[in-house]
Amino acid sequence: MAEEFDVVVIGGGPGGYAAALYGANAGLRIAVVEKDKVGGTCLHRGCIPAKEFLETAHVFRTVAGAKEFGVMAEQPGVDFGTSQQRKQKVVDQLWKGLQGLMKRRKITTIEGTGTLHANKVVKVSDGTELRGRHVILATGSVPRTIPGFDVDGRYVMTSDEVLALDKLPSSAVVIGGGAIGCEFASMMSDLGVQVTVLEALPKLLPGCDKDVVDVVARSFKKRGIDVRLGVQVHGHEPNDTGTTVKFGEGEQITVDAVVVSVGRRPLSDNLGLDGTAVEVDQRGFVKVDEVMRTGESGVYAVGDLVATPALAHIGFAEAVVAIKDILGESPVPVDYAKVPWCIYCHPEVAFAGMSEEAAVEAGFEVIAKKDPFIGNGRALIVGEPEGMVKVIAEKLPDGRAGRILGVHMVGPWVTEQLGQGYLAVNWEATPDEVAQFIQPHPTLSEVFGETVLALTGRGLHA
Ligand code: NAI
Repeated sequence: MAEEFDVVVIGGGPGGYAAALYGANAGLRIAVVEKDKVGGTCLHRGCIPAKEFLETAHVFRTVAGAKEFGVMAEQPGVDFGTSQQRKQKVVDQLWKGLQGLMKRRKITTIEGTGTLHANKVVKVSDGTELRGRHVILATGSVPRTIPGFDVDGRYVMTSDEVLALDKLPSSAVVIGGGAIGCEFASMMSDLGVQVTVLEALPKLLPGCDKDVVDVVARSFKKRGIDVRLGVQVHGHEPNDTGTTVKFGEGEQITVDAVVVSVGRRPLSDNLGLDGTAVEVDQRGFVKVDEVMRTGESGVYAVGDLVATPALAHIGFAEAVVAIKDILGESPVPVDYAKVPWCIYCHPEVAFAGMSEEAAVEAGFEVIAKKDPFIGNGRALIVGEPEGMVKVIAEKLPDGRAGRILGVHMVGPWVTEQLGQGYLAVNWEATPDEVAQFIQPHPTLSEVFGETVLALTGRGLHA
């Protein structure tokens, strides 16, 4: 007899564990089926490990620049093995915390691969059978690969392998200049790796505002990262000195390692689904409506498995929507056009809402203002004056700035500063309203305040 639960969740990553924790908090009886470790890609092979290594790069830069502050330190070197151990300690502590939390909420966790069958029966690879009054599919995604670059863990790696390294290569090609590519390029370059980025599109960080991308591109160039845009890659050939990557019109470069960061694909291959009305699209994403319902009544899908931004916090948000729908609470769907994005390369990037290009393309008349960090006291104090804040608002018929459409930041700690920009965009606030709020001085957040004030037509500086 299959054991019955209110909700059976397949996959224990951010989408799955958030659904479990939120649902259990609302009194639902929940089982989570996980084939590896709860925490998923984000905790074990994604966000957390990547940001940990980016922090190593930050510490390196700080020590290398210490003399300027009158702090006499030896020039730093890198022991990546120690950094790897520290990363693992951080990951394990969070993993332990998550396991404890799930246990305290009386969530049943079953180790194995789960498949969904008719009547919301979930079969686990260890032979267990569960039946959910509802089922949430949250099996996530894996790195995409490209022909000619088979992942071998020696020359060709994806984020999975890079984040497990004990030693960095001395040179690397990064294929794909998206979020992962830029984070890895930035981290490796700061730690002494000679990095070349090969990006198929004409700009880095597709989706980001052009002015923001220009700041990142300038910084990369200054730091010796060779960024090649609009190039195709044509395979690689290992040899005595590493591997030779062929790209563009007959160009090639020999490096120690190749990092493939060309996106992720949903992990829907082994979900079962026979005898259910769950639909999977051509790219492998499970199809859902705006409250995460699949075609099968009572079955939901969240996180990287569905065709929405592949971000852990989107998985969290979708999990909450699914559980609220299960509880009959008429959830507000996630507004994907206004979600927060944070990219942790140096300089950091953070934004919510439309880029200027996207707003114009969508037919808006816009007013945009930019304010650089170089005029900000705190940015000079911390020694990171690179970057700016850009706010885009709808242009009203009288020429004044109306609803804020997008907030884009690049520079020091902007991932921690996006909050009020995100709120402004989602509140559909106007610059006049937002400019009423006081920014503490001296803080980095004054740059956002100043940009918004400038949009009212009366900036103090801009
Ligand atoms: P991505 O979709 O952000 O970027 C992939 C890049 O590779 C694009 O610029 C694309 O044009 C390029 N590309 C694709 N095929 C190529 C080829 N054959 N040759 C050269 N370039 C090629 O994907 P990424 O960076 O791998 O990240 C995967 C997912 O994880 C994304 O959805 C991303 O948003 C998310 N993520 C977000 C992070 C963040 O927000 N901090 C960090 C890491 C990942």
